[in-house]
Amino acid sequence: MRILAALLALVACAPSVAQERSAPMERSLPQERSLPLERLRSGSTYMGADLRAMQGDDFSNPATLWVEKGARLWGTRAGTADRSCADCHRDARDSMRGVAARHPAYDRVTRRVLDLEGRINQCRVERQGAAAFAFESEELISLTAHVAAQSRGMPLRVAIDGPAAAHFERGRALYQRRIGQMNLACKHCHDDNAGARLLAETISQGHPNAWPGYRLEWQSAGSLQRRLRACYSGVRAELPPYNSTDLIDLSLYLAWRAEGLPIESPGVRR
Ligand code: HEC
Ligand code: HEC
Repeated sequence: MRILAALLALVACAPSVAQERSAPMERSLPQERSLPLERLRSGSTYMGADLRAMQGDDFSNPATLWVEKGARLWGTRAGTADRSCADCHRDARDSMRGVAARHPAYDRVTRRVLDLEGRINQCRVERQGAAAFAFESEELISLTAHVAAQSRGMPLRVAIDGPAAAHFERGRALYQRRIGQMNLACKHCHDDNAGARLLAETISQGHPNAWPGYRLEWQSAGSLQRRLRACYSGVRAELPPYNSTDLIDLSLYLAWRAEGLPIESPGVRR
């Protein structure tokens, strides 16, 4: 119940009505931003120097193990096509550069918005003729971390127009919606209380640019979807299933909200 007390204190200090009314719900214009660029802060800037150092050095970043495993999988043949990712895409350092910075993205073939995990699984099934990797499997996290690492330092910029627009609007609405026994929305923590302490953690602006990443609490690397589910669980809300439209649409909204932040994947977080 310590958590409950902390959350209630948080709600009590949340500047509510005025700010809630001013939250923009109108249609998105390309130049509109959720957070002004000069106020945009990566989650890593809220961490202690020790964690930042761990993330910044490949030799001490535990997620490097997943990246290296991903590099091995990149060159491993699989499926009825008996081809590896490398057989078609060659060196990931060239072919995958910038790819993570523009995902999630609308895919015309499946007519769905796919996050990077979904995009990789699509190649796995359609091009390799192999079974999709399970969500949160070591293989999928490793390949995603390997692909995402090729975009390190590149600014996030996703497309929210055309067929992606409806998904973006859904994601934005989900971000504002109160959920769970705590009756809190994402924005109550990540817009109104960024910088505040919540138990052992400092609440950040809630950006996706470090994922997949290693979380000390998990003792493992994990996906953005797993991190989002942890937030649902924190407010005692029903967890959306992996790869559900809710999680994908939210991811698209988050990527737009973080536009301009450099990719840090694989990050390190508490
Ligand atoms: C038989 C060839 C082939 C294989 C094998 C293959 N891919 Fe692809 N992949 C493609 C083609 C062609 C595209 C782009 C066309 C499209 O959009 O479908 C693509 C697109 C992608 C993209 C999106 C790139 C972008 O610019 O948005 C990613 C990520 C990707 N592949 C990852 C992988 C991974 C990881 C593997 C191994 C598990 C893999 N692919 C295996 C042919 C392949
Ligand atoms: C009760 C407060 C609270 C609510 C509500 C909440 N979160 Fe979080 N969230 C946290 C805390 C605490 C962390 C871990 C510290 C940090 O990075 O902010 C976190 C982490 C995150 C991160 C990872 C940030 C990073 O840099 O690694 C994302 C993304 C995120 N939340 C998105 C969401 C979304 C989307 C929602 C709504 C579905 C949500 N959160 C609801 C408290 C909250």
